[in-house]
Amino acid sequence: MTQALTHYLQFHDLTADDYAYLFSRAALIKRKFKTYDKHQPLTDRTLAMIFEKASTRTRISFEAGMYQMGGAVVHLTTGDSQLGRAEPIEDSAKVISRMVDLVMIRTYEQTKIERFAANSRVPVINGLTNEFHPCQIMADLFTFIEHRGDVAQPLDCLKGKVVAWVGDGNNMANTWLQAADLLGFTVHVSTPSGYEVNPSVAGITQTDCFKVFRNPLEACQGADLVTTDVWTSMGFEAENEARRQAFAAWCVDEHMMAAAKPHALFMHCLPAHRGEEVQAAVIDGPQSVVWDEAENRMHVQKALMEFLLLGRL
Ligand code: CP
Ligand code: NVA
Repeated sequence: MTQALTHYLQFHDLTADDYAYLFSRAALIKRKFKTYDKHQPLTDRTLAMIFEKASTRTRISFEAGMYQMGGAVVHLTTGDSQLGRAEPIEDSAKVISRMVDLVMIRTYEQTKIERFAANSRVPVINGLTNEFHPCQIMADLFTFIEHRGDVAQPLDCLKGKVVAWVGDGNNMANTWLQAADLLGFTVHVSTPSGYEVNPSVAGITQTDCFKVFRNPLEACQGADLVTTDVWTSMGFEAENEARRQAFAAWCVDEHMMAAAKPHALFMHCLPAHRGEEVQAAVIDGPQSVVWDEAENRMHVQKALMEFLLLGRL
């Protein structure tokens, strides 16, 4: 039977039921990885990875993950392919997707990945755009479930929880909103003015899945998870100085962690800037799970690639 063509361009491209499957599957795949038990359902499959922005975690997690599953990868960047010489994205998609089984793209506008997907014969995965970073939120939720829930009933521990988002209304914030909307938790969002989240970008259907707070300390009150990200995302470097000034009060510190629930977790998608968006004492402290979060990118993405190519096994 041929697997239906499903792209993963935004968090809400999959259903809650799909995520329940994927989190349980990721737990199994992770267990096998830890015990050197081969898991190679993607033998002879090839993943093309297209990077128009820098990456450490996304590249290594997809590349190592694909090799571990028996497959191969092709790595392309704007600078070393015709993408940087204005070959139309539609033409690139038609050509690349005739030679590989799966494509991961990290780029600027979401419309670019949508245009690629519309012309692709194979599933396309969003490895970060200006608007969304769904693979990261999948890893963050899996990390929360590992620490605070049960991978056998993975979605149960998310219901009714509060995630405090402190910082920029960026691709990560938009994706948190989509996840809250789909999986039944609430995001407390605190951003400086001028950097607010725009719920219409996330396309959320339930306005009660997020609450806006002017004061970041108030956003953290009663939170089960406190999370943040860089003040300046890739592609916005020209705004760096203005952002450093605007975001000065949006540094996750010990007071914010103390305002959260006693066992609240701290997450950051990384790379982090200690002393800017987070104090060293927080990111290197006992509530931080950032290294698990980074590692889990690989386990959830292995489950995702397997699912997009082979369906539920
Ligand atoms: N979190 C994340 O996507 O990291 P990279 O930019 O290193 O891929
Ligand atoms: N918001 C950040 C995330 C980096 C992984 C960026 O887009 O640069």
